[in-house]
Amino acid sequence: MHKKRGKFITLEGIDGAGKSTQLERIAAFLRTKGLSAMVTREPGGTPLGEQLRTLLLDKTSAMHPETEALLMFAARREHLDRVIMPALNQGKWVVSDRFTDASFAYQGGGRGLAFEKLETLEQWTLGATQPDLTLYFDVSVELGQQRINRLTVDRFEQERDDFFQRVRAAYLIRVEQFPQRIHCIDASQSLTEVQLEVDRVLEQLT
Ligand code: TYD
Repeated sequence: MHKKRGKFITLEGIDGAGKSTQLERIAAFLRTKGLSAMVTREPGGTPLGEQLRTLLLDKTSAMHPETEALLMFAARREHLDRVIMPALNQGKWVVSDRFTDASFAYQGGGRGLAFEKLETLEQWTLGATQPDLTLYFDVSVELGQQRINRLTVDRFEQERDDFFQRVRAAYLIRVEQFPQRIHCIDASQSLTEVQLEVDRVLEQLT
């Protein structure tokens, strides 16, 4: 029998927004609904993608912003082809810690690349494929910075506050552009409140 296609959920937010805490919990919630769910992340998710992640997050890597964007999309192309699409086609639900909105926010907003260039890469890499649902965890830059583990800061986390202000502003533009797909959650609330809201949104999708 042909299995029903799974759904694709992505989590987004500035560093320190708390989305990684939600990742496994969301998959567990979906499993309680009898769904098969897997978690993955970007950049990464495949052996090549994880190697690219190491390069991209390494504080000693120096690269042009366009190189950074191209590597993000290169990792994404592999991820989509080898992990995300096969899983969805097998009827699994896929929850990814970050996806394309992060490129618009970080490389577009943060690094200042034109959104049109990123749209070209998106079209080339993904075609019409989009997440079924994106949960965007919104926090102020101040709160995000407080929550970052200072002992393990990577190449992005070491950026200054104004970088994260631009990243957050770009995320908020995406929220306005795609109100059907992106659900904005106030992640400055308590963990319990955030979880309740996440569960409410998921309940509607399952
Ligand atoms: P993150 O997901 O925050 O992982 P961790 O919780 O281990 O720090 O780290 C990934 C970093 O990569 C994050 O700072 C945002 C950045 N990033 C981009 O700049 N563009 C992208 O397209 C993606 C997917 C991530």
